[in-house]
Amino acid sequence: MAKQKIQAPKGVSEYVPPRSSAFEFVRECLINPARKAGYLPIELPVFEDTELFTRGVGESTDVVSKEMYTFEDRGGRSITLRPEGTAGVMRAVIEHGLDRGQLPSKLWYAGAFFRAERPQAGRYRQFYQVGIEAIGLDDPAIDAEVIAIADAGFKAIGLNKYRLDLTSLGDAHSRAAHRIDLVAFIAQLDLDEATRARAAINPLRLFDDKRPEIRDAMNNAPLLMDYLSDSSKQHFAKVKSYLDALGIAYTLNPKMVRGLDYYTGTTFEFVHELLGAQSGIGGGGRYDGLMSELGGQELSGIGFGLGIDRALLAAEAEGVITSDSFASDLFIIPLGDLAKEKALLIASELRAAGKTIEIAFGDRALKGAMKGADKSGARFVIVLGDTEITTQSVELKEMKTGSTSSVKIDSLLGAL
Ligand code: HAM
Repeated sequence: MAKQKIQAPKGVSEYVPPRSSAFEFVRECLINPARKAGYLPIELPVFEDTELFTRGVGESTDVVSKEMYTFEDRGGRSITLRPEGTAGVMRAVIEHGLDRGQLPSKLWYAGAFFRAERPQAGRYRQFYQVGIEAIGLDDPAIDAEVIAIADAGFKAIGLNKYRLDLTSLGDAHSRAAHRIDLVAFIAQLDLDEATRARAAINPLRLFDDKRPEIRDAMNNAPLLMDYLSDSSKQHFAKVKSYLDALGIAYTLNPKMVRGLDYYTGTTFEFVHELLGAQSGIGGGGRYDGLMSELGGQELSGIGFGLGIDRALLAAEAEGVITSDSFASDLFIIPLGDLAKEKALLIASELRAAGKTIEIAFGDRALKGAMKGADKSGARFVIVLGDTEITTQSVELKEMKTGSTSSVKIDSLLGAL
């Protein structure tokens, strides 16, 4: 009896050909602007001590209180699959003394993250992010640069239909002044026990509540934006003026609440128009207290996490990625043993020159091999037989138009 097939766990995103090429393209587009701005790669474990996230991300958040994949390892330690990247980067920066060298420490990462959320379109239990962190510099110009790097990544993919939401969560003084009034405001609302408990840890969370009655109740709540200290105001005004100078449009959203508790000062989200409920394609901000919360020195930092899965969905929704963006340049069909050897040689030379070349191995009949060429989506095809080798000349066929031209083997690179 045939054994039952095993399926992937519920709610994970996975990418197989041909779509995996589009995924890779999106990831590279999002990483490249960070590389060009001098950010260096950092590779970290996907599991960490659970305490890193309870302390770093915050217990009032859904991410920590409801969505972590936490388990005990064989040594009885509490381990959690990373739900986000910033806390781990900060842990590594402290552990490896990167905060003792040249500042800011500028790092990028890409990889899988895990949140036990209710799966739906664009929301997965294993998903992928590209992130950057710039640690150890409190200058509004780097806030603008971080935002510009994210924007350049989305632009490189070809995305257009997104907006940038921007706010400032101020410094500790700003938030302390606001908190007094916000807590007093919340105290006179009629709330259930769980909501009150959440608000006690972080009252800003109530701005993020999806229930209509809480939304209504919070309509007249005092806004942090109106409590910014002079230095926070000045910092934020500078960020805005740099973004203006860069021509990066933004919408001020003083009610924005990020899903993680470490944010302070400049905070932002990129929202795509065509993605429905899961429209956040990236977000980030400054985190003044995170390093000291994790046992390091008092250094400020700023960064972002961009959702590769969602950026890909956005690209597909906008129709900016087509499968022939990733097709091979040339498909070679060798006929016979000598032709095979010649094909290997031609392919390795053209590949060294940067072209993508496929060879039809396996001695298939010409008709079948042609079908394979067609399926591969390659731009051009050549058939290589004894005559072609003797004359050193091939018929280069453009697959889309069907037009052919006679080309010397030596001149293939130019012809492609
Ligand atoms: P985040 O907003 O929680 O921030 O996640 C960043 C992005 O990851 C989101 O905008 C979204 O595109 C994607 N994302 C989050 N959860 C899911 C999911 N379940 N399925 C698919 N995509 C998802 C952070 O993680 C911060 N660490 C970003 C940061 C870095 N802030 C400062 N530095």
